[in-house]
Amino acid sequence: MSLQLSVVVPCYNERENISPMVACLDKALAGIAWEVVFVDDNSPDGTADAARAIARVDARVRCIRRVGRRGLSSAVIEGALSSSADYVAVLDGDMQHDETRLPLMLKAVEDGADMAIGSRHVAGGASTGLSSSYRQKLSSAGIRIARAVTGADINDPMSGFFLLRRSLFEALAGRLNGQGFKILLDLVLASPNRLKIVEVPYEFRPRLAGESKLDALVMAQFAGLLVDKALGGAVPLRFISFALVGAFGVIINLAVLQLARGAGLSFAAAQTIGTFVAMIANFQLNNQLTYRTQRLKGRRVWSGLLLFMVVCSLGAIANIGIARALYAENTSGVLAGAAGAAIGVVWNYAVSATLVWRAR
Ligand code: GDD
Ligand code: MN
Repeated sequence: MSLQLSVVVPCYNERENISPMVACLDKALAGIAWEVVFVDDNSPDGTADAARAIARVDARVRCIRRVGRRGLSSAVIEGALSSSADYVAVLDGDMQHDETRLPLMLKAVEDGADMAIGSRHVAGGASTGLSSSYRQKLSSAGIRIARAVTGADINDPMSGFFLLRRSLFEALAGRLNGQGFKILLDLVLASPNRLKIVEVPYEFRPRLAGESKLDALVMAQFAGLLVDKALGGAVPLRFISFALVGAFGVIINLAVLQLARGAGLSFAAAQTIGTFVAMIANFQLNNQLTYRTQRLKGRRVWSGLLLFMVVCSLGAIANIGIARALYAENTSGVLAGAAGAAIGVVWNYAVSATLVWRAR
């Protein structure tokens, strides 16, 4: 029998959940030629080892271990692209998604739908497994925003549980953003034509073991994905993040300047301290947020910081030089300042992207 279904399971620190997951799939997918692909981002708890132990004796189980990278969406993409089956399903590795729904979802796509989504928000579905009312509120707010920005008519656009033809996934793969958690939304938005979507209700279960990885950073990435789509992908997300961090740096600079002057320092000394504090803060924020996927660690943080400071200092010189030249030619002060700042941030971004956080 040829391979029908690849179940892609992104997992990070899910060691305890691997074996129960395989057992449940085995039960739920009886009669279907399936495989499961665990995509692990080098979890410290040894998730990959747990998966490989089963894979050695069960050819339906595969494991992709990625190193130096993190991310639910990109893990799903790599798992799906490793598939040779007719259909690909995506399922969380913590048993919160109801795997017994998979045959129904498969049937829906075999019968002509482009995609079947496991939905908590259609009749018969439920999100009881969301740990707190805070998470419930956050979830419904996210859904409202997603629907507004994307116009996608899906009741559970934040679902991480869906099934589609592999050929469709492959066709959309090149257009995916790949950042953050929202791979489904990413796929729907990447499609040039409106997808025919069937929503299959399921009950979101409580986590079996381990803990959720959804945190403030994941939320920020989600906001970034929406901004990116709203701008039609014209402005690189990285640049927006970099510019926002830069704006924040200006505020830090001014605050420190005020404090230092209040403490009796001269303007020049206070401004120097303010600039240094702002550069260090900006470096940290960019390292944690803008360049999260290629974050500098260990000793590289220090050389990176030094390089970043040199780059930003040159950016500042360019900024002031251009603003001065324009001002001397009778451009208004505000306009001259804005032009200088714009050149400065573009310089800082372009040069630090290639020198400080160059992709390795
Ligand atoms: N490889 C990899 N890398 N896997 C990850 C990463 C990562 O960086 N982060 C999370 N995962 C895996 C987890 O191990 C888990 O199997 C799955 O992705 C979902 O992560 P959770 O942390 O359990 O997310 P959640 O339960 O809060 O939310 C999930 O369910 C919602 C309802 O469908 C996600 O799938 C949401 O996108 C979804 O809205
Ligand atoms: Mn979960």
